[in-house]
Amino acid sequence: MRTPVVAGNWKMNGTQASVQALVEAIRTGADAQWKSAIVLCSPFPYLQLVADMLVSSRMALGAQNVSEFGAGAYTGEVSASMLQDCGVQYVIVGHSERRALFAETDAQVADKFATAIAGGLTPILCVGETLSEREQGKTLSVVETQLAAVIERVGVESFAKAILAYEPVWAIGTGLTATPEQAQEVHGALREMIASRSSDIASGVRILYGGSVKAANAGSLFACPDIDGGLIGGASLDATEFLAICQAAG
Ligand code: 13P
Repeated sequence: MRTPVVAGNWKMNGTQASVQALVEAIRTGADAQWKSAIVLCSPFPYLQLVADMLVSSRMALGAQNVSEFGAGAYTGEVSASMLQDCGVQYVIVGHSERRALFAETDAQVADKFATAIAGGLTPILCVGETLSEREQGKTLSVVETQLAAVIERVGVESFAKAILAYEPVWAIGTGLTATPEQAQEVHGALREMIASRSSDIASGVRILYGGSVKAANAGSLFACPDIDGGLIGGASLDATEFLAICQAAG
């Protein structure tokens, strides 16, 4: 059985005060009986604050980006070892906002994934198609290309220590959610792509769905056989909504 994961991606939102209030509310409301892993992916400046608040809680800390480089003259970048030093366990790589707005390529995403693994972090690798790619029937080939770039760089075995997230670009922040059938089709295909290289790795890897997940639609998505939790954007900034999503994951 795969343990579900619910990860909140706060994106570039919050203040010290709002982050403190949000984490406090989530920590208080999280039920010790839930078996899913809960990850809070904070902006860099608040990582230490959240790390301190999560000590002896059931939740883990994540970052939203990592440099593909090690220490050195890379002004403005943050390395995997710095993240680990601040108590970070997970890091999102290849989010569509980074691919689209910051021109991250498949090769760069693969390097970031490799650096995260080498630095002892668990990467959450995001893949997903745009609306026009979906309309052209290219969804599966797009996600396969994105996934294959990473598998070719690090080997399929690395996915024993990683999480995959399917985030259709057209569903992110739009209020449009993939139907459970649409999401399951892609999740099943992603698992098959991994299974064609290693059935053991495929049966163990968690594949999260992201894109306008709310308390109201989480249950039907998480009930799909190949959906192992969610990567939550907007709804992760509201403690009540986020906790209800965690509850839906069980
Ligand atoms: P929304 O939940 O706001 O659509 O964002 C999803 C996302 O991008 C999570 O990484």
